[in-house]
Amino acid sequence: MGIAILFFFRFLCCCFFFYAQVFISIDAKCHPDDLKALKSFVNRLHTPVQGWDYGSSSDCCSWKGVTCSNPPALKFNDSNVFSRVVGLELPGERLRGNVSESLGDLVQLKTLNLSDNFFTNSFPSNLFSLQNLEVVDLSSNNFYGYAPLNITSPSITFLDISKNKLIGEVDPDLFAMSKLKVLDLSDNAFSGELSFQLGNLSNLLYLDISFNQFSRLLPDVFFNLRTLEQFAASSNNFTGVLPVSLGNSPSITTLSLDNNSFSGSIDVINCSAMVRLASLNLGSNHFIGQIGSLSSCSQLRVVNLGKNRLDGDFPESFKNLRSLSHFSISGNGIYEEIMPTNLNLRFENTRLFVLANCRLTGSMPPWLSSSTKLQILDLSWNSLSGEIPSSIADLQYLFYLDLSNNSFSGSIPRRFTQFHSLVNLKNTFKGEIFEGFPCYSRKHRFTVRQYKQVLGFPPLVDLSYNELSGMIWPEFGNLKILHVLDLSNNKLRGEIPSSLSKLTNLEFLDLSSNNLTGTIPPSLENLSFLSMFNVSDNHLRGRIPCEGQFETFLNSGFVGNDELCGCQSVRCKEESRGEENWIGEDEEERWKCVIRVPMYVGGAVGFVSTVGVCFWCGMVFPRERKWGHKKYVHVYRYKIFVDF
Ligand SMILES: *[C@@H]1O[C@H](CO)[C@@H](O)[C@H](O)[C@H]1NC(C)=O
Ligand SMILES: *[C@@H]1O[C@H](CO)[C@@H](O)[C@H](O)[C@H]1NC(C)=O
Ligand SMILES: *[C@@H]1O[C@H](CO)[C@@H](O)[C@H](O)[C@H]1NC(C)=O
Ligand SMILES: *[C@@H]1O[C@H](CO)[C@@H](O)[C@H](O)[C@H]1NC(C)=O
Ligand SMILES: *[C@@H]1O[C@H](CO)[C@@H](O)[C@H](O)[C@H]1NC(C)=O
Ligand SMILES: *[C@@H]1O[C@H](CO)[C@@H](O)[C@H](O)[C@H]1NC(C)=O
Ligand SMILES: *[C@@H]1O[C@H](CO)[C@@H](O)[C@H](O)[C@H]1NC(C)=O
Ligand SMILES: *[C@@H]1O[C@H](CO)[C@@H](O)[C@H](O)[C@H]1NC(C)=O
Ligand SMILES: *[C@@H]1O[C@H](CO)[C@@H](O)[C@H](O)[C@H]1NC(C)=O
Ligand SMILES: *[C@@H]1O[C@H](CO)[C@@H](O)[C@H](O)[C@H]1NC(C)=O
Ligand SMILES: *[C@@H]1O[C@H](CO)[C@@H](O)[C@H](O)[C@H]1NC(C)=O
Ligand SMILES: *[C@@H]1O[C@H](CO)[C@@H](O)[C@H](O)[C@H]1NC(C)=O
Repeated sequence: MGIAILFFFRFLCCCFFFYAQVFISIDAKCHPDDLKALKSFVNRLHTPVQGWDYGSSSDCCSWKGVTCSNPPALKFNDSNVFSRVVGLELPGERLRGNVSESLGDLVQLKTLNLSDNFFTNSFPSNLFSLQNLEVVDLSSNNFYGYAPLNITSPSITFLDISKNKLIGEVDPDLFAMSKLKVLDLSDNAFSGELSFQLGNLSNLLYLDISFNQFSRLLPDVFFNLRTLEQFAASSNNFTGVLPVSLGNSPSITTLSLDNNSFSGSIDVINCSAMVRLASLNLGSNHFIGQIGSLSSCSQLRVVNLGKNRLDGDFPESFKNLRSLSHFSISGNGIYEEIMPTNLNLRFENTRLFVLANCRLTGSMPPWLSSSTKLQILDLSWNSLSGEIPSSIADLQYLFYLDLSNNSFSGSIPRRFTQFHSLVNLKNTFKGEIFEGFPCYSRKHRFTVRQYKQVLGFPPLVDLSYNELSGMIWPEFGNLKILHVLDLSNNKLRGEIPSSLSKLTNLEFLDLSSNNLTGTIPPSLENLSFLSMFNVSDNHLRGRIPCEGQFETFLNSGFVGNDELCGCQSVRCKEESRGEENWIGEDEEERWKCVIRVPMYVGGAVGFVSTVGVCFWCGMVFPRERKWGHKKYVHVYRYKIFVDF
């Protein structure tokens, strides 16, 4: 009996291997029609496709980026088993030329990814008639002109034609693609009104039409889009009030409508209905009204309301927003408010808090220090007064603190020299942050891109334009991570601590317009990343260091001091004549002393232009919104709403 079973198993094994060998030995080649279509595709290009051996090999299934179906059922007698091309994926191959009409002959094609090339002209007219086509990514090319899609294929679920130069109204055919889940038209020049037929795309999960020139009202069709989770229409020319159906969508988690001309009350966002809303970007519009109603959107994590016409109180009810991590309401013209000092207000999960240019008065609210996860705090351009609470230094993740242009007085809290996140790189940038949050900055000459690798924000302490007195603590040298230190336009006195030379990452140091005395410590020559240095309008004396970055600093950063002298064009008297006196009694000579030969002006202009322009919070939005298919699934699954 046992032997019989053993034999039976052997028999099974043999069968298996026999079949397996047959399977492997059948080298299914690509179908001649598909081979022909791909060869015509290549012939229309100005550039060869790397990894396509189309000269000798007739098996296109082995070419790079080509996927074929499994061969049809095994046939022992057949040497002509063909597989069909089901995928053509050549993203980022630097391909140039027209996309050949022959792609329309790949009758089994399911996935087409030609993104990030230099394809030009229009789409092949028959492409969207392919009955099996599901995923189409033609983004980041140079397709231009009106885009008649000529869609007869109902099977498409993913269509990304973003970042091209398409113009005109959207082809109505698009709205017949009823299976569409992801539609990205962003970054083109589509114009006109968005058709109400959008409502036919009832399976949409993700819709991005931002960075186009759509105008007038958004159609009130969101009742039909029951599965829509992410909707972006930023940077268009939409006007009017938000459609009721949008403000009541129970499925939307991420809504980005910034940089349009939407008007009306912000109350259209009905929190009782929008139960999943986690990210809301309405910045740079003409919304009016009070923001209190948003406090019942309990899932909200990211809120940008900057640059609108909102008014009223900064509502205490916002304490209900337990998940809030990013909040900005900068630049609302008529917003005028006393910061609530109520201790019950707690933003335990808030990581970024921007209330710049909101005409806030009163003192710095103590509850801010209960926002223990805070990384970025910007209260600049307000009229806050009183002392700066030293408890801010307890915020162990804080690496960006901008309190500039207020009326804070008293001395700088000594504990500001102990910021946990600024003393040790290991502590910095811990915790999640929304990389794409609409960003900074106005005064500081940083572009978002420059700091993108990090977080979009440089490690910064900016207390400029206040009424701070007292001295610059020598322990500031502890903040080794700092890139920007701006203490200018205060009433600081005492000497510049030589320990600032320990700020080895410092790029920007502005101590101008204070009451500082003593000399410029020569140790600052060791700050090798320093590209902006300003100590003008103080009472400094002595020699300006000449080595290191000091060779490149502008003269205007030294003017308006008692007796500073240079070492290049005009030597200090001490050196040239062996006297102890500084040049300075003679007005003209003193002028020469600080105004050196303007040979560095070119470099300085370069600096200004490379670090870029300044923006208001709520105006600059990183444009990395590229969600490929896979990434999208990831985003969807983990509900991470990287947006804007
Ligand atoms: C191979 O077998 C199929 C049936 O499976 C038959 O239709 C076909 O004619 C055969 N081809 C040859 C070359 O024998
Ligand atoms: C691409 O198509 C346009 C218009 O159809 C034509 O004028 C142009 O010559 C084509 N370019 C190539 C390289 O085939
Ligand atoms: C649309 O596609 C069909 C099927 O491929 C084709 O016959 C027709 O010519 C195309 N129409 C236009 C306007 O390109
Ligand atoms: C959208 O749906 C309406 C009603 O079902 C239908 O009349 C219309 O033709 C559809 N539009 C498209 C482009 O399929
Ligand atoms: C705002 O939209 C306009 C076009 O409507 C565009 O030119 C501008 O660059 C956008 N601004 C930002 C900051 O995206
Ligand atoms: C935006 O719309 C307004 C009025 O609707 C119009 O005056 C303006 O030219 C439009 N701007 C663009 C860039 O289309
Ligand atoms: C807000 O949503 C709730 C729940 O869906 C609904 O009962 C209420 O009528 C809505 N309010 C408005 C003003 O639309
Ligand atoms: C300070 O903020 C006010 C608005 O509150 C603004 O008008 C002014 O230009 C700012 N000053 C500086 C020096 O940034
Ligand atoms: C600057 O400091 C000196 C003494 O250190 C003091 O006499 C003077 O009043 C101060 N000036 C200002 C504007 O605070
Ligand atoms: C610069 O740093 C080096 C090494 O840390 C040190 O030896 C030197 O004295 C410093 N230079 C100045 C001018 O402090
Ligand atoms: C230094 O600050 C003064 C006063 O704020 C300003 O006029 C000057 O342009 C600044 N110089 C540099 C190099 O930033
Ligand atoms: C197309 O390829 C690019 C580059 O690999 C990728 O990022 C993108 O997600 C792909 N598109 C789709 C729809 O998979």
